[in-house]
Parts: sequence; structure tokens; C-alpha cells
Amino acid sequence: MGRALRTFLSFNGPRFFTGRSNKKRAASASAAIALATPVQLGANLPLGHGVVLVTGATGGVGRRVVSLLLEKGLRVRALVRNEQKALAMLSAGKRPDPASSRLEVVTADIRDAASLTPEIMEGVVAVVGCTAAIVQPKTGDSEDRAKYYQGIVFYEPETLDSPEETDYKGVQNVLAAARKYGDVGGTKKLYSCSPAFIDRWQDFASLDDVVMGGRSDSKFSLVPGAGEEGNDDSPSRIAGVFEGVVTTDRGFASGGFTSMRTRNLEPALDLTGYEGIRLRVKGDGNTYKIILRDSDQWDGPSWSTMVPTKDGIWEDLEVPFASLIPVARTRSIPPEQRQPFKLDSVFALQIMLSKFAYDGEENPTYKNGPFKLVIQSIEAYQGNQAPRTPRYVHISSAGVERPGRPGIVLEEEPPAVRMNDMLGGILTYKLKGEDEIRGSGLPYTIIRPCALTEEAPNMPLLVDVGDTIKGKVSRDDVARLAVAALACPDASDLTFEVKSTIPFSQAWTEEDAAKVPSTDMTKVFAEVKGKVGK
Ligand SMILES: NC(=O)c1ccc[n+]([C@@H]2O[C@H](COP(=O)([O-])OP(=O)(O)OC[C@H]3O[C@@H](n4cnc5c(N)ncnc54)[C@H](OP(=O)(O)O)[C@@H]3O)[C@@H](O)[C@H]2O)c1
Repeated sequence: MGRALRTFLSFNGPRFFTGRSNKKRAASASAAIALATPVQLGANLPLGHGVVLVTGATGGVGRRVVSLLLEKGLRVRALVRNEQKALAMLSAGKRPDPASSRLEVVTADIRDAASLTPEIMEGVVAVVGCTAAIVQPKTGDSEDRAKYYQGIVFYEPETLDSPEETDYKGVQNVLAAARKYGDVGGTKKLYSCSPAFIDRWQDFASLDDVVMGGRSDSKFSLVPGAGEEGNDDSPSRIAGVFEGVVTTDRGFASGGFTSMRTRNLEPALDLTGYEGIRLRVKGDGNTYKIILRDSDQWDGPSWSTMVPTKDGIWEDLEVPFASLIPVARTRSIPPEQRQPFKLDSVFALQIMLSKFAYDGEENPTYKNGPFKLVIQSIEAYQGNQAPRTPRYVHISSAGVERPGRPGIVLEEEPPAVRMNDMLGGILTYKLKGEDEIRGSGLPYTIIRPCALTEEAPNMPLLVDVGDTIKGKVSRDDVARLAVAALACPDASDLTFEVKSTIPFSQAWTEEDAAKVPSTDMTKVFAEVKGKVGK
């Protein structure tokens, strides 16, 4: 078979690699169909088409977080232990239809790290953690946990799960999986050599000047041992290797190029909120052209820039989107004819070694002969200017610092503090779980509610730091705080307690809620920030 025909088949015919199939991409495509317009929770918040993972989505706070996020137009992945319960609670008993719903329901047990799979974390840009070791009244509760949700009525409690396993190790597991497989760290993984992502490289095939009658010849393959030493993400140190021979042998004006290019990606990449792409490579001293296409036309306009590499040295090649030049064929598009780059629909990536830059100018480092570019990963990155909004919002509990605190009068403390030991160290392990989040380096918000009630939202809130306050607060308000935190740079890296100013003895109804202006959560976070800074 001629090389020109082989090239044609690579991009238009059956896939030339085995493994990752188009089917999988098609499934994620359908999940994103409803999202023609990305909805952002806050100015410049790069959630775009990204997914918010809600753990404990069948819980009192968790289920409210899910519906608030959906109301805001975000994609939500509800992580639950019991699928039937979740479907009944979150989706009218039916499995959500990926084509029309932004909700997905996934099952996992956070105590079991292996159940937190790459698929569960794929595309996750933020996590709202609402899990907790289950506490129930000893005398037995109803199926719908009516006694538990009564909140401020005291029943002798018992724990069903181990707080150490759920509130500490479980949180540790979620954090680790979100960092490893998700996009919570401010970068979006596009191509990487870790086992969970390796199939994605199948999007690429080589495309050389043979299509124009030239003689250059390249291949792109995954090569064990080629990767960067010490890179934990690549067992056997696998890396992608783009190599071959580039030549102007036949003297064609447009010959002398070789490239690796993706097929048209389906769905297109949404890089909204990111500042550029970063390639981890070991080059050969050649200057490569990095090309992105925001149109699905094969030969339509593209956006590109020339990037030099060092010979034999691992380095990050950063390609800010602002540095890309719009090009039609080999000619730069005149400024007056330029359209803005459509960041939310990047259909193809291409890496090219060519004799020419643009407009007939030559690539200054070009020479005929062999070349080799080793690629470890390609990711989109946020700039330093991007707002640092929380990527891990966690519902903990007031009282976590009180067990064992000198001078504490146990009789005056809430039951969880008094009974911490009897309840398996429930608060002690919640604090350890919090510590994991604070030490993770991710922007976080840790909300420590006082006693939770099923009362109406929009209670007047009182926030504090230092873990001394007591009182009640509605689950609705806690859920609203958690969702608001995702959009609020001021909420980053805060740990605070919250209660309402309504005393235990006074009920808070929908009528009360309607009489007061809706709480501005931005101000709530600013207030906490003020207290932390004191
Ligand atoms: N109750 C209070 O007065 C009070 C006061 C202060 C703070 N808090 C804290 O506030 C937070 C939210 O409370 P809440 O009332 O919403 O809690 P909740 O209704 O008990 O919800 C806990 C959720 O965690 C899930 N979960 C437990 N273990 C899990 C595991 N291993 N893997 C996956 N999911 C798991 C549960 O799933 P299942 O549905 O399958 O059981 C449930 O959805 C909790 O941390 C709670 O401790 C509560």
C-alpha cells in the first residue's frame, strides 16, 4: 500500500492502533451534548465543560449540593455507594440520560482506593466532599433516617462505619485519585503516559509531505524506556516518540515537512479558562511548529507557533494561546480578517517539523535528515493570573479541635465532642481528614457546620474560626455555601465554622426565609478571611 494511501486511512479510515476505540470517545461526547454553552459559576472560573464531583451525594448536604450545581448549569458526577438509592433521590428513579442531562451517577466506596477509578475522575475540575461515617440513633432509625435528620433532638448515637476509614483514609483516597486522574490541580491532562491515559495517544498519526509528493517519513509510537527518569506516571518509562527523516529531496516547494496530527477530536477539547498548552519533551535542537485547529475542516485555518527545542534535554515547552498565529495553509491571515481563537472547540493538535515557518520564511534550524522528539505529556495550563478558586470543598464539623482541648467543659459541648471516643474518634478523624486537604496544595474550603437541621435556607449566618461556636444551621445553607465557594477566590484556603444566629429554641421556616434578602456568600467568605487575618 502506498504511503499516501496509508496516511489517508490513518485519518479517515479504520483506526491504525488497537485498544482505545472511538466508542469510548463517543460516550463522553454524548455526555457533553447538552453543554453547547459552558456555564461558569463565577467570573473567569475555568470550570467550562469540566465536571464537579460530589462525594456523599445521597447525604443530607450532598444531595442538595448536587441539585444546586445542576441548577447552575454545571456538569455533576454524583459519587454514591448505593446506586438505586441515588437514582431514586437524584434522578426520579431513572438512570440519567447522558444526552439530555448534566448529571452522572457513579458508584464507589471512598474507603476502597481501587474503586476511585480514572473514569470517575476523568475531567473532574473540582470536588465537593460531603461523605461522613454514618452515625445513627442506637434505637434504630427509619429507612429514610427520619430521626437522624431531626437534627437537634438527642438520641443515643452509634457509628455504622469506622471514622478512621471514612473521614480520614477515605478523604485521603479521594484527594489522591482527584489529583492523579482529575484536573483539579489547575492543569487539564490532554495526553500523558500514565496507564490511565495512555490510550489517548491513539488520536495521533503521522502526516508527512508524502501527501504532496515529498519523501519525508515519520512515525509516532509509544516506546518503553524512552520516558523521563523518575517519572512516577510512566511505569517502564513509556513515552511517545515522534521520529523519522525529513527531507526536501524532490525539491517540491511545499515539501520538507513531517508531522504528527490528531484526528478531529470528538468532542472537541474545551480549553476555556486555560492560558496555553505545555508539552513535556526531550527534543533534538530542531524548531517544531505547534498547531491547534478550532475548526473541524481538514485544511481549514489553524493557529500555530514555532517552538525551539534543546538537544537531548528534558524541558517544558509552553505555548501560550496568545502566541499563536492564525494561518491559512502556509500564509498568516491578515489582521483585519482574523477571527478570535475558539478555545472551547479545539478539534485537532499537530506537531510539525517543516522547512518553512510562515509566509515563505524558512525555519532557521531546519536541516534535512533524521529527527526525534520524545513527548511525555501534553496538558493545558492556567496562567498565574487565573483566580485561585477552591478545587476541593469539604464539609467537616464544628468541634473537631475540641476533644482533648485543655479547659474544655465537656458537659457544655455538643454530643459529638462529649462522645468522641465512644463514636470511634469521629471528630479526631474528621480533623485528620481536614489536615490532608490543607496539606494537599490544592485550593480548598473546609466548612465546619454546627448542628445540621432540615430547616429552610437563607438563615442569617454567623461564621467564626478557632472552633468555639455552638448552634444550628440548615443543610440547605451549608450546601449553598459549598457551591458558592467554588466560584469565589476569597473562599480559597479557608477553614471556618458556621451556624445561624437563630437559637435552637426558635424554628426557621420558608416564610422566615422569604422575608430576608438572600445571603451574599461572597461577603461571608470575605468575613472569614478577615477573621483569619486577625
Ligand atoms: N448531623 C449533624 O448535626 C452534623 C453536624 C455537624 C457536621 N456534620 C457533618 O456534616 C457532613 C454532612 O452531613 P450530612 O447530614 O449530609 O451527612 P449524611 O446525610 O450522613 O451523609 C453522608 C454521606 O456519605 C456517604 N458515605 C458514607 N461513607 C461512604 C463511603 N465509604 N463511600 C462513599 N460514600 C460514603 C453516605 O452514603 P450512604 O447514603 O450510602 O450512606 C452519605 O451519602 C458530615 O460530615 C457530618 O458528619 C453533621
